[in-house]
Amino acid sequence: MIYTEPLFLGITPTGARNYVAEKVASLERPFFNACAGRFSVVEAAIKAGVPPQNVFASDIGLFSSIIGYLADPSKKLEDLGIRILDPSLELKGVNDPFHFAAHVMLILKLNQMKQTNLRGLYRREELLASWDRSRDAMRRQLETLVQNIAGIHYEIADIWDVVSRVSQEDATFYASVPHYARGYTKMFAAPNLKWNQPTIPEFAPKDFPLLLEKLGPAKCHALLCRRCEWEETIPVNCPT
Ligand SMILES: C[S@@+](CC[C@H](N)C(=O)[O-])C[C@H]1O[C@@H](n2cnc3c(N)ncnc32)[C@H](O)[C@@H]1O
Repeated sequence: MIYTEPLFLGITPTGARNYVAEKVASLERPFFNACAGRFSVVEAAIKAGVPPQNVFASDIGLFSSIIGYLADPSKKLEDLGIRILDPSLELKGVNDPFHFAAHVMLILKLNQMKQTNLRGLYRREELLASWDRSRDAMRRQLETLVQNIAGIHYEIADIWDVVSRVSQEDATFYASVPHYARGYTKMFAAPNLKWNQPTIPEFAPKDFPLLLEKLGPAKCHALLCRRCEWEETIPVNCPT
């Protein structure tokens, strides 16, 4: 069985994604996408006409960094220092970055299947039994995405650093921040993997008003997407 359930949850919904993509393309500025996630907005922006070399994407997670390192021509996947700690999942003698990347993505998928209930246990068994086919399918998806965004710049960076670096620039900024506290830490918990993980804390949804405060008076064109109850007070000078 091939798994079609998304590995990454929380992509910017289509309507918002296309709106952002068109705005970014029409503004014709360097485009900074913090919290790049599954790069769905980067992909849409490039499709809308933004040159990939004008895109500066960033995130802190392994899932996003694998994609970013494959898409940025100045980066090498091996520099992420990924090591598989479970000998039964080890991959020996593979020099093909897409093969390795798809294998690691599938380990992330396996980790999402809970071992504490029967459903999760069966799903893990099925995935392990169809590993090679599932890895090929994962590889095809990865290749398509990377092809669509190839040539972008990517870095591992905290959204707060990106905001302080670009807010006074003549640039466009977009972020869709995490909606749930520690949501991505839990989504991609990987005790069987090690990598050069940055010591940057996941963005806390409670800090969203602070982000608005910082971006309100910014010179750059800033767009944010957040799906939640609107309990926060939006600063009056915040661009809408
Ligand atoms: C809602 S998702 C973004 C989805 C993306 N807009 C898309 O459509 O593909 C949020 C992302 O923020 C990232 N993230 C969490 N804390 C961060 C931080 N402090 N700095 C940068 N990125 C962070 C997570 O790793 C996750 O990939």
